[in-house]
Amino acid sequence: MKKILFVCLGNICRSPSAEGIMKHLVKEAGREHEFVIDSAGILSYHQGELPDSRMRAHAIRRGYNLTHRSRPVRIADFYDFDLIIGMDDRNMADLKERAPSPEALKKIHRMTEYCTRFTHADHVPDPYYTGAEGFEYVLDLLEDACAGLLKL
Ligand code: 4NP
Repeated sequence: MKKILFVCLGNICRSPSAEGIMKHLVKEAGREHEFVIDSAGILSYHQGELPDSRMRAHAIRRGYNLTHRSRPVRIADFYDFDLIIGMDDRNMADLKERAPSPEALKKIHRMTEYCTRFTHADHVPDPYYTGAEGFEYVLDLLEDACAGLLKL
């Protein structure tokens, strides 16, 4: 069983999309029994909320129905998950600061590590203050990285 937690700042744009895409790919591959997939945010500001309506609108056009409710990262996540995957430098630094042990620290990875098409991307940018192209680019990167993750 592989347990994967996707993390971004607000848990309303990037990480719930990563969760939705990964669940979709895993289901398509008939491998649901092999994975636990969830997402969380560094901030608790949006706790309980569905993903941003713009993110949901872009995602549904590609067949991803995002139903996750925002929640903050908990210390227990560092014990419960095998991979804790951040989207950008800030997420990586915040996660590393919260890791309760050296073992937990080793679980922290960067989403773009798994890209095989967007090999020059080093982070998944926050789309919150961008337009449609920002949300589409996030989905392009996440689809690439999730496909890479599935091949691990
Ligand atoms: P996310 O985008 O980290 O991809 O969910 C953000 C959403 C909201 C905020 C920041 C980032 N915010 O500060 O409210």
